[in-house]
Amino acid sequence: MRTLIAIVVALFCLAADAGAQVDCRAAPCTLREAADAAGVYVGSAASDSLIASDPDYGPALAREMNSVTHEVHLKWDATHPAPGVYTFDAADALVNFAETHGMRVRGHTLIWEQFLLDATPAYVTDITDADELRALMTEHIQTVVGRYRGRVETWDVVNEPLETGGTGLYQNVFYELLGPGYIAEALRIAHEADPDAHLIINDVLVSNDGPKFAALLQLAADLLAAGAPLHGVGIQGHFFLAPIPEQLQANIEKLVALGLSVEITELDILLRGPGDRAERLARQRADYRGVVGACMAVAGCRGVTTWGFTDRYTWIDSFLGPDFDPLLLDESYVAKPAYD
Ligand code: XIL
Repeated sequence: MRTLIAIVVALFCLAADAGAQVDCRAAPCTLREAADAAGVYVGSAASDSLIASDPDYGPALAREMNSVTHEVHLKWDATHPAPGVYTFDAADALVNFAETHGMRVRGHTLIWEQFLLDATPAYVTDITDADELRALMTEHIQTVVGRYRGRVETWDVVNEPLETGGTGLYQNVFYELLGPGYIAEALRIAHEADPDAHLIINDVLVSNDGPKFAALLQLAADLLAAGAPLHGVGIQGHFFLAPIPEQLQANIEKLVALGLSVEITELDILLRGPGDRAERLARQRADYRGVVGACMAVAGCRGVTTWGFTDRYTWIDSFLGPDFDPLLLDESYVAKPAYD
């Protein structure tokens, strides 16, 4: 009898230990298990409509990710398509999914207005009066952040504040009418609407060293000096060209040295270079390893969000064309070399 009890206790201890610690080098584990064990976020942009339409999508998302970002449904044109009209059904659906599956939600995004891709309706960009725009921006941020108070952990308050290919602030309608202080204003409004939310600015083409990263670092320092409630910076990480991990890590370290958190927020890495598909997949694996490794090497880097997780659904197909296959699972949800 004693022996039986000892065996049962030993089995119980083994099971409990297995739950607490996951060693993915010893046995295969999911991305989510690896991230949970490392205490970091691994996330994806996702769509509530794909959860509804593709029975394999939601289970794969919840299995692999402990964080999720709305790919389109929290943007201004989705939540606030006309003056006084708010539509939250689609955004709610993904927040509910995340809560059901114990995932963190990143709120993307409150302000994003630029020339190429953005999400700001014409009724906003047509405004010519500063007071009118300020009142509308305040209402929008209060309404959206207030609705998800305590449920959206991080907000991309201003997306792409800098010129896409330059170093100045993007001359969007908010900048034109409210001046450069619009970013600090937006942060303050968001902070009032949810004092516990983690607030960040998020930009693209700032992974490598260079003048645009220097401008982002300066912007973050200026916002902090002005007392704005800025808690972190998102590095989008769309890699149309090869990443340079050493530079990315150095950039993350510089932002963390300001007292800010950093996240890679929109990672996708296109298949690139010469060779057959196997060689290109191996190169993509090395690229992913470099980017994720740069984040993991710095304590202030909270995690990595990929912009989608299966090559079945990637914005790159419509933005640049098919066959760049930039994500971690293939079109049949099978893990690619980069997954490792
Ligand atoms: C993209 C979405 O993936 C597309 O579905 C949408 O049509 C346009 O926006 N940088 C960003 C994201 O910050 O919001 C963009 O998402 C991709 C580039």
